[in-house]
Amino acid sequence: MSYLKSSIGLKSYDWSSVDLLKSLTPESISGSRDIIKSRQEYFWHDMGSEFDSKHFLIYLMNRSDLQLSDDFLEFVCLWHLDEQNHYRGLRKINSVLYGFREDDIDKEIKSRRPEFEAVSSFMVDEFTILASIAFDEITSTRAYKQDFKLFDNLGPDCLSVWIRNATKDEAAHYDNAMKLLKKNHSSRFDELPAILGKIVGFETSDGFRYNNTFIFDHDTDDFSNELLNDSKNTILEAFGREK
Ligand SMILES: [Fe+2]
Ligand SMILES: [Fe+2]
Repeated sequence: MSYLKSSIGLKSYDWSSVDLLKSLTPESISGSRDIIKSRQEYFWHDMGSEFDSKHFLIYLMNRSDLQLSDDFLEFVCLWHLDEQNHYRGLRKINSVLYGFREDDIDKEIKSRRPEFEAVSSFMVDEFTILASIAFDEITSTRAYKQDFKLFDNLGPDCLSVWIRNATKDEAAHYDNAMKLLKKNHSSRFDELPAILGKIVGFETSDGFRYNNTFIFDHDTDDFSNELLNDSKNTILEAFGREK
């Protein structure tokens, strides 16, 4: 663990997907082909979302109307490094499990364009953005935890380590977002129940679809209504607010 990079003690872990998975080959996979096939769409979804942190970062930096604090900029830079490390890991994993070339995956993933229109009402200012990120990251943490058994059953130890490292990073992103909310935005905590309720309403609405924005990517059945409500309630409990 390292706290050295950030002046306010933001958590970040130093590890490399490329190093960790360098000896992963298709021959090393011993898991059930049927299960691997059934999870193809989910592996691809998660990989795309991790890559889309770049879209989200560029969107935030281009929003000249936002007054983003130095703390937030440090937070988002550390976060982006981690998410791109996760993308490179899932790119290798998708390549090994499904026989794609990593270059071809890159081309396909990079050809997609984000559409922020539907999520812009949550991206009002630093406070609502941090609340949205906290919700997103606690949900990612729990969704990746659901995948531990799946990864363990694929065979190679490096995959078990990878999913646990990625989960630890997602938990650190959640902790860091909560730290910034507590440090700089405590005067607005009364707004949290409405904001989080609106996020859950949005993600569970008919026709909800993910548009390559990184944020609010919970449009597969990996993300149950129960999981989304638990995320909301966990944040409200952390701030001592009524659910
Ligand atoms: Fe991630
Ligand atoms: Fe994350």
